[in-house]
Amino acid sequence: MPEHPRHRRPYANVLETIAWTPLIRLTRVAQGIRTPVYGKAEFFNPGGSVKDRIGLPMIEAFERSGELKPGGTIVEGTSGNTGVGLAIAAALKGYKCIFTMPDKMSQEKVRLLKAFGAEVIITPTAVPPEHPDSYTSMAKRIATETPNAVLANQFYNLTNPAAHYASTGPELWEQTEGRITHFVAGAGTGGTISGTGKYLKEQNPNIQIVGADPVGSILAEVWRSNGANKPQGAPYKVEGIGQDKVPGALDLSVIDDYITVSDRDAFTMARRLTREEGIFVGGSAGLIAHAALSVARRINDPDACVVTVLCDTGERYLSKVFNDEWMRENQLLEPEKATLGQLLGAKTGAAPAIVSTAPGASVRQALGLMSLHDISQLPVMDGTNCVGSVSEHILSVRGLEDSKVLERTVSDVMDAPFPVVDAGMPADAAVKLLGRNNPALLVRDHGTVQGIITRSDLLQFLMAR
Ligand SMILES: Cc1ncc(COP(=O)(O)O)c(C=O)c1O
Repeated sequence: MPEHPRHRRPYANVLETIAWTPLIRLTRVAQGIRTPVYGKAEFFNPGGSVKDRIGLPMIEAFERSGELKPGGTIVEGTSGNTGVGLAIAAALKGYKCIFTMPDKMSQEKVRLLKAFGAEVIITPTAVPPEHPDSYTSMAKRIATETPNAVLANQFYNLTNPAAHYASTGPELWEQTEGRITHFVAGAGTGGTISGTGKYLKEQNPNIQIVGADPVGSILAEVWRSNGANKPQGAPYKVEGIGQDKVPGALDLSVIDDYITVSDRDAFTMARRLTREEGIFVGGSAGLIAHAALSVARRINDPDACVVTVLCDTGERYLSKVFNDEWMRENQLLEPEKATLGQLLGAKTGAAPAIVSTAPGASVRQALGLMSLHDISQLPVMDGTNCVGSVSEHILSVRGLEDSKVLERTVSDVMDAPFPVVDAGMPADAAVKLLGRNNPALLVRDHGTVQGIITRSDLLQFLMAR
């Protein structure tokens, strides 16, 4: 294992382990892209997300201003992760937490906040932010009505971007030894992108700050139109980033470019990061990584250095992004490509998987076999090798030319063998191989021919799907 300078001494408490997360090169998902792409692994924080960075600083600021007194209550409207960041600090400092959360958020997040002892109030997602039932309005009301309570107010609290200015920015500058050229991040509250972006631009104004936004969020469009357009938001499934109004913690002026990404691309990338890189992250990290890879592909420069934010752990989305059923219900899974092996397995009918003749058999016998099984072609097998083929069509043409053809041997009249293909071949690729000259394919699995597939088999299979 490589030496790492962290963790050499014990920490006084878990809060000291927040931040200084690793920067990890993405290799498999970046294959074929010359620009190096690194992920800031925020799921290494003790609460599993980037939001641990803002929980403690926000609480300490309330303590300094005198708004939060011992035994007080912290209230917040949160998509989950900020709640965890606040709850960790609150646990150590003895504060109570009440969180409001939109009902689109995963059950894991609700249970997680309850595990830290927080009270969680679920609110409807499908209401505008100013509606009294929205999670932000509800949090405001609870904070006003509860004695000795503060509203953390991450969307407008400038301690939020300041925390990233003080931690995420300097860490990236140091970890890349000043070589970072592009920082790609999503904006939920805008704290991460605004604070980190500001710090990085102060070190080197040429560093490009790229926003990544879900399709349905309004932020990218507001940025593109320089605030002139105030589009209507539309629902989307990615959690934690994107908005239907511009939060006060978001400084759009640090952003140089904005990329919009669909739920499907976001979730596909989260799953790829997990399976191919061993980096288990949620949908927002997938979305930002998808955007970062498109930036890297476009600039195509081995001397550049693109950094993406791996916002939180995938464990928070086991019932969603990592649940095939949920993905299918929401039309978010790439349709699986059927293979020839599956097609063979689905084949029905009385004929055995493979009916063949031998080179020494007579044409009469071969035709008898075809008629018995109601098939129109046969592979000619010499042991396990396909050495030729005969078809009803060719035999009838030959029969017209030579009346004695029925008594001849198959090897005298046979055509070229059918192609042999692997069982793993996608069925749509097989379509291209089947044609006038190849009425059938032999399917091989684990080295042996397992069956035969004809054009009509393929058609029947595709129609049944
Ligand atoms: C999963 C996830 N990713 C990204 C973000 C965005 O970070 P920020 O609020 O700093 O813009 C959040 C914020 O809630 C989040 O929960």
